[in-house]
Amino acid sequence: MVESLAHDLKTPISIIKGYAESLLDDCIDDKLKFKKYLDVILENTDKCIKIVKMMLFMSELDDSPVNLNFSQINIKDFLTRKIDEYKQISKDKSLNFDLDILDKRHDKAMVYIDVQKFERVMDNIVINSIRYTPELGMIKIRCNVDEDKIYITVCDSGSGFNQKDLTHVFERFYRGDVSRSSEDGHVGLGLYIAKKLVEIHGGKIEAYNREGGGACIKFDLKYEKSV
Ligand SMILES: Nc1ncnc2c1ncn2[C@@H]1O[C@H](COP(=O)(O)OP(=O)(O)O)[C@@H](O)[C@H]1O
Ligand SMILES: [Mg+2]
Repeated sequence: MVESLAHDLKTPISIIKGYAESLLDDCIDDKLKFKKYLDVILENTDKCIKIVKMMLFMSELDDSPVNLNFSQINIKDFLTRKIDEYKQISKDKSLNFDLDILDKRHDKAMVYIDVQKFERVMDNIVINSIRYTPELGMIKIRCNVDEDKIYITVCDSGSGFNQKDLTHVFERFYRGDVSRSSEDGHVGLGLYIAKKLVEIHGGKIEAYNREGGGACIKFDLKYEKSV
């Protein structure tokens, strides 16, 4: 476990070192080349920061009781805004996002929820879907709200989970394809953190493949009616 994280940090740190040494040694006059080297250094520094932040967040989750900070949201507005964000970050792939909300309550009132944690669960799931879904693919987010729970399903038209991964994807540091995933600070914590946060909200989460192919994650959260 520690070995795998050390390995994930070692690669960007070695790149930073290599490029910094070149900057010192080569007396680069070419401004463009100089800038390119600095860009690489910055990009890899960001990767390191991302990994360290993940580790810190995870040890917080493991070590201390987690407080829920409730605030009031309108679930439809919230998911619509999130989808706009997801479209923005995946615009190179021209993915289609589909949002389907069924609110069974009469009053369609607001819900009280820890928005930051809910958002993190959504991000960890949908960012995986974006990653594993090829250009022009589809990501469907379905949401049902009843009197005390929110049920969310995210399905994509990507590769789906490898059969051997399905029972492990929520484990800490589990990565299906280790060679691909250490890029961009993907260290196998996304779904582990999502599961923890869902459980803190008194919910359950599961992963499965759609019949026609593609991955699905389904979870539910208890929400408060007032705080
Ligand atoms: N939408 C998806 N489609 C296919 N495989 C997925 C999807 N989401 C997650 N996985 C698999 O589950 C593993 C664990 O996911 P995650 O915990 O987010 O870790 P990471 O993204 O760092 O690899 C991934 O490495 C991948 O093998
Ligand atoms: Mg992930």
